[in-house]
Amino acid sequence: MSKYIGILTAGGDSPGLNAAIRGVGKAAGGFYGMQVIGFRDGFRGFMENRTMELDSNTLSGILTLGGTILGTSRDKPHRMPVGGKLLDMTDVMVENFHKHNLDVLVCLGGGGTQKNALRLAQKGLPIITLPKTIDNDVAMTDITFGFDTALTVATEAIDRLHSTAHSHHRIIVVEIMGNRVGWLALGAGIAGGADVILIPEIPYDVEVVAEAIRRRSHGGKRFSIVAVAEGAMSKEDAAAIHAAEKKLASAKSKAGAQKAEAELEQLTAQHTGNTLRLASQLEKLTHLESRLTILGHLQRGGTPSAADRLLATRLGTACADLIHKGHYGVMVAARGDGTEPVPLEQVAGKLKRVPLDHPWVIAARQVGTCLGD
Ligand code: F6P
Repeated sequence: MSKYIGILTAGGDSPGLNAAIRGVGKAAGGFYGMQVIGFRDGFRGFMENRTMELDSNTLSGILTLGGTILGTSRDKPHRMPVGGKLLDMTDVMVENFHKHNLDVLVCLGGGGTQKNALRLAQKGLPIITLPKTIDNDVAMTDITFGFDTALTVATEAIDRLHSTAHSHHRIIVVEIMGNRVGWLALGAGIAGGADVILIPEIPYDVEVVAEAIRRRSHGGKRFSIVAVAEGAMSKEDAAAIHAAEKKLASAKSKAGAQKAEAELEQLTAQHTGNTLRLASQLEKLTHLESRLTILGHLQRGGTPSAADRLLATRLGTACADLIHKGHYGVMVAARGDGTEPVPLEQVAGKLKRVPLDHPWVIAARQVGTCLGD
């Protein structure tokens, strides 16, 4: 009997999402003869039962498109804004699943989506996920789709910033996406030859960064490129946030927890604009003019790289194979040239940070890049 599949894309968009939708859809529909529908705008559209036909027509011509034809949102099933309130809408989603006689729901997303997918799986829904995000921070997979494209965009940006930094004898601080991990800043920083790379995993000392820039300046190189991950922080900020997190974890009363949460929120809010502050601190400390470039959503838009199209197609078709076998409750992870189903419990709530002894960290240090520590 033919199987019925629902697909949704959730969280921040990422190059390669359409290639993945096409991979699942073509293999499931064309190869295995299953029926496929899409839900619009992530878990929000699933809850509101807004669907889109995914047949050979709609799946054609989307391989090279950026974004997601289904649309996306950051809505969470268990805390969804509805009528001015945050409501748990998981039961409505379970109803919609059955309304469409689905056999499985495929969720394409990053860390948040893996958690949300597990919540639905715990309500009894058969779920399969695929790992996407430009941040590359999903646990238990070698890589996520979207990362390679964003890495290329950020590297090209650093290449371009080099000539203007050099001409004006300036420091150019370039902020690269990655609010919790530094894969993108580290990778693009190394590939683009940044002089300083700052990532969340290695809290920095601004004086160490300034000294590295001054040393270059004294050696005749009167410009520097500083690649900074969005979530990079000074040693002082990291210590304050760590202490607030500890306070929150050990809070004994509701009031204590609320106070600790407010403190943590305030510290996190202060962190916004951190890169701008860093650029002006460096200007003062080095007496070199500095400029800030925030790459922002440029890194997420546009056509996916060949590597991302290939990865998304591999993961998407492997997902259809798992559906055919009735193997649910897993994320399709990239493992070398192949794929591997990993139970959602092993993925949800985990973060793949850059290990401090990762070969990229070692290589960066060996070519003389300052990591701020
Ligand atoms: O999770 C991917 C990501 O691009 C992060 O690097 C970034 O901090 C965040 O999304 C931005 O989210 P939004 O598009 O919702 O502002």
